[in-house]
Amino acid sequence: MSQFRKHVFICTYGPYCGFDGDTEGLLKRLKQRVAEAGLRDEVRINRAGCLNQCGHGPNVVVYPDDVWYCGVQIDDADELFEEHLLHDRPVQRLLFPLPPGNNKDTSGYPPEVTEYKQIEKRLDSVRAAERARIQAAIQAAGAADQS
Ligand code: FES
Repeated sequence: MSQFRKHVFICTYGPYCGFDGDTEGLLKRLKQRVAEAGLRDEVRINRAGCLNQCGHGPNVVVYPDDVWYCGVQIDDADELFEEHLLHDRPVQRLLFPLPPGNNKDTSGYPPEVTEYKQIEKRLDSVRAAERARIQAAIQAAGAADQS
């Protein structure tokens, strides 16, 4: 049994979907609808990293239904909420039509998007280094407290 009746993942952290539409706006609108309906304990809307379907975004997946959507725009948020999340009727016109697996096709993006992807990788490295630095400081402080 799932923790949530519906658990929605929107590719907001992937390098491409944010160039296909307003993924943050979509996230915000769905969260708003969930909150207004008093469903925060039942329906969870999460940011996600790349869902390996780049080039078809913005991509969204709804669990436990395992229903995948593609090309979801902010104007689709209300229909997605009302039809699928409230009434268990997946929005047929937004369904991702490709077979399971890696369906990446990033050939249509301009070089600037590839450049953005490299920036994201550098930021990930900085984040990881900062996390390691802080963890080491916490461990050192803990060791000092025990001595
Ligand atoms: S960037 Fe969104 S699926 Fe890869």
